Amino acid sequence: MALQAAGLAVRWITGGGAAVEAHSLLQENVGPTNVEDLATFIETIGPSRDDRAMTRMLCAFDDSGVLAVVVGARLGRLNAAMLLYSAVRKDMRRRGVYSALRARVVDALRGEDGRPLDYIISELEPEGILWRHYRQRWDAWIVPCEYRVPNTQGLTPKPLDLVIVPVEQRPGLGEIAEIVREVYEGVYRLVPADSSDEYLSVVQSIRIDGPETVA
Ligand SMILES: CC(C)(COP(=O)(O)OP(=O)(O)OC[C@H]1O[C@@H](n2cnc3c(N)ncnc32)[C@H](O)[C@@H]1OP(=O)(O)O)[C@@H](O)C(=O)NCCC(=O)NCCS
Repeated sequence: MALQAAGLAVRWITGGGAAVEAHSLLQENVGPTNVEDLATFIETIGPSRDDRAMTRMLCAFDDSGVLAVVVGARLGRLNAAMLLYSAVRKDMRRRGVYSALRARVVDALRGEDGRPLDYIISELEPEGILWRHYRQRWDAWIVPCEYRVPNTQGLTPKPLDLVIVPVEQRPGLGEIAEIVREVYEGVYRLVPADSSDEYLSVVQSIRIDGPETVA
């Protein structure tokens, strides 16, 4: 879908009223307990983040304001990016808006660092819309561990699948603990991650002797 051809404006947002609108859209569509509070959200998407998680937020607009948002981050210590949030207003779904925004965010994150982008990380509800799409469309790998969102930034801790879409290559089992650390420290800003009970329990649950691919 060509977003502009559909009459939608698309802009990178790093703060201001559009960022507040994007936060509301996420709260409405993803659920308030699954979105960080507004203060940390503004910090997350702001231009002044450190080089451990360089965040980009792309929004689509119509005359009534922000109707879709995709947020991703380049993880500075890995050849990896993470998709943090996505939402499309109900009346605009199933038209490829998410797919178009996601593609542009991934392109921007690919070019962020002058380094290869090996894979893209997401935290997804098992069997949810995007989980199925990622499995079918992107041959996504469900990391073999009991992954949990930590108790921080106003989020409700909960189990989700840690899902990896290979771009150049998939990480090995031996890299999972480092990936979880980068997510907890870079994205959730829990430094050091070892001080988080959720982090310790996720790392202990990694099944490194399990199969390489989990169907
Ligand atoms: C998930 C969401 C962002 C998708 O937005 P969208 O613009 O409708 O997505 P697209 O039109 O680009 O569709 C992408 C693919 O997702 C899948 N998909 C999207 N909506 C679907 C639905 N209702 N049922 C089944 N599959 C669906 C399809 O595989 C689709 O590809 P296809 O059209 O080629 O078959 C949107 O449904 C949404 O905002 N949901 C609520 C918030 C949420 O769950 N966010 C993700 C977690 S952060």
